[in-house]
Amino acid sequence: MPEQLNIAVFASGKGSNFRAILDAITRKHIRNAHVVLVISNNSDAGALVIARENNIPTAHISRKQFASDEEFNNALLSTLTVYNVNFIVLAGYMKRIDPCIIRSYRNRIVNIHPALLPEFGGEGMYGMHVHEAVIARKATHSGATVHIVDEEYDHGPIVLQRLVPIADGETPATLAAKVLEIEHELYPEAIRLFAEGKANVDGQHVTITK
Ligand code: GRF
Repeated sequence: MPEQLNIAVFASGKGSNFRAILDAITRKHIRNAHVVLVISNNSDAGALVIARENNIPTAHISRKQFASDEEFNNALLSTLTVYNVNFIVLAGYMKRIDPCIIRSYRNRIVNIHPALLPEFGGEGMYGMHVHEAVIARKATHSGATVHIVDEEYDHGPIVLQRLVPIADGETPATLAAKVLEIEHELYPEAIRLFAEGKANVDGQHVTITK
């Protein structure tokens, strides 16, 4: 068995992906992994409420609390060290991850994006903007992508993707709901692969073994 995943979830919003991951751990769909910490830049984040309800330690760490980027990043890194974190899951985290954190956790940070990367990604492509762009392009499919986080937005190696067909009369809101439902299956699945040592990053590719 590979080393247990001690996961820190970073979240800014309601935390439905975090909840799906937690459920998968509780149901033992994901074994060999624990969420040891939830970090948010937003003290009102629903994700923090979910963490407290489940007796998971939380940290509210925001850039505004610090005089410099360096102090902010040091606070993040030292908190991750205190909790012995070896894997980071971004679940609706709205802030950029500094390269110093990416270097410390190279190939150990994952994100979920509500479209089929490399299309419809990059700076400014978040939330409803993504689904609006997909509909405007008259695409036939959208979907969700789990990827490794590197120094560029929505750029790292892709771990898993799942397609969502676009129906006639689809709106950004209906598409967002469908994609989110898929995310709740796809993200736990991707984390299960890492926990079982079945997802291995090799340069720009992730190899999945069954
Ligand atoms: C999801 O749509 C995800 O793709 C994006 O942020 C949203 C987070 O939703 N990165 P939630 O907070 O997990 O409900």
